Amino acid sequence: MATRTATRFVCQECGAAHPKWHGRCPGCESWGTLVEEAAPTGGARARGGGRAGPVVAPRRVVPLGLVEALPDGRLQTGLGELDRVLGGGIVPGSLILVGGDPGVGKSTLMTMALARLAARHGTLLVTGEESPAQVRLRAERIGGAAQIGVVAETDLDLVCATIAAERPAVCVVDSVQTLWSGELSSAPGSVAQVREAAGRLLRVAKEEGVSIILIGHVTKDGAVAGPRVLEHLVDAVLLFEGDSTGDLRILRAVKNRFGSTNEIGVFEMTGHGLLPLDDPSALLGRSELGSPGSVVACAVEGTRPLLLEVQALVSPSELQMPRRLANGVDRNRLAMILAVLSRHARLPLGAADVFVNVAGGVRVDEPAIDLAVALAVASAQRGVPLGPLLAFGEIGLTGRLRPVSQSERRLKEARKLGLTHAVGPAGSATLSGIVLRTAETIGDAITLALGPLPSTQSGVAAD
Ligand code: TYD
Ligand code: MG
Repeated sequence: MATRTATRFVCQECGAAHPKWHGRCPGCESWGTLVEEAAPTGGARARGGGRAGPVVAPRRVVPLGLVEALPDGRLQTGLGELDRVLGGGIVPGSLILVGGDPGVGKSTLMTMALARLAARHGTLLVTGEESPAQVRLRAERIGGAAQIGVVAETDLDLVCATIAAERPAVCVVDSVQTLWSGELSSAPGSVAQVREAAGRLLRVAKEEGVSIILIGHVTKDGAVAGPRVLEHLVDAVLLFEGDSTGDLRILRAVKNRFGSTNEIGVFEMTGHGLLPLDDPSALLGRSELGSPGSVVACAVEGTRPLLLEVQALVSPSELQMPRRLANGVDRNRLAMILAVLSRHARLPLGAADVFVNVAGGVRVDEPAIDLAVALAVASAQRGVPLGPLLAFGEIGLTGRLRPVSQSERRLKEARKLGLTHAVGPAGSATLSGIVLRTAETIGDAITLALGPLPSTQSGVAAD
């Protein structure tokens, strides 16, 4: 292989390449957009591009029908929750990125998957963060991981060579941010290094038919460090989330070339690794329902409904700009719901701090959670409990409730957990065994759930 020593700096905005680094791209004048890359070697793409006629020998084109099929389907990891998120297992020769905050359990999840795969397939764990002894320590907590092949290496050339020589069915690289290529002068973990590593490993994956799973850390601002810049390269991006203080972990696909992206996998972190939770709604039984500011919501993620507790706290603010904190729901969505509550339900929230939390560290993006958030805030503001109650419905800017999909499944899940009452938008499907009261507007829904508004209401309820 020809060694490439020259590097260049490419602007991520306009694509202009420069021989030297600049703080501001001389081409498009954006700041901080130049990233180091290995310069392509001579050949057809050399200076004066656009010239007709290739310099290199062309590749042979084959009819699609004659392309060799991938070996026997998907590799099942045996972790049902992981397989479901992957769309049924790992596709041979695919490149998968698993991102998440440090400490959330990425290494644990992947060690568990490798341990199960190792019984039937060749496995390799490339560890750049921990020594093999540390990996072993973790593996012993999980059990059954003795068969996994381990190599501690961060040099990209050596890692690629090892994978090509070993040709395991599945290789996990923990983490992509520790890999470095001597061809680039930037530090390991930089965008340039991470991208180079992913690009080279992609080639190895496709050429050798090895499925490679890259573990990547997410930075403070939420972008997978590097991994965000890798999203277009890899076949699937899985995010592992959950608050590392709680035990619940959610695995979701944000991109999947071989499956849907709305499935989630739910795990619980225990002393012996991650326990798949087949029935995540059962977690709800552990939280305390029936206090003011608490209501049950049901999110439908992929093929599964998931019952969650939405909690709100409303307290008089001492700040000019009252605080609005949202955990598990979108901040802007919360701002919209609070504005609708103030305007259409006459809830005096202007001088109150509002905190909303989805218990267990789960994030919900569905607008169907709107009504649960609104009722939790109204209940907290009045200091009146809602009792164990399921709420679902989207709230429009006019204060009207919009029906949501799959209301029957949401009700079924709630009934399964023993809830007897629900509030939802008019026109929702009903279900025997659970009393569904419907409302046209957010104001009506609050009246249904909490009783009529006290006529003298003038401020935040004192506790
Ligand atoms: P780890 O997989 O190392 O996280 P990551 O690779 O995402 O940084 O796991 C981190 C946490 O999980 C750590 O705080 C310890 C905890 N843990 C358990 O609670 N039980 C276990 O069996 C294992 C292996 C880890
Ligand atoms: Mg780790």
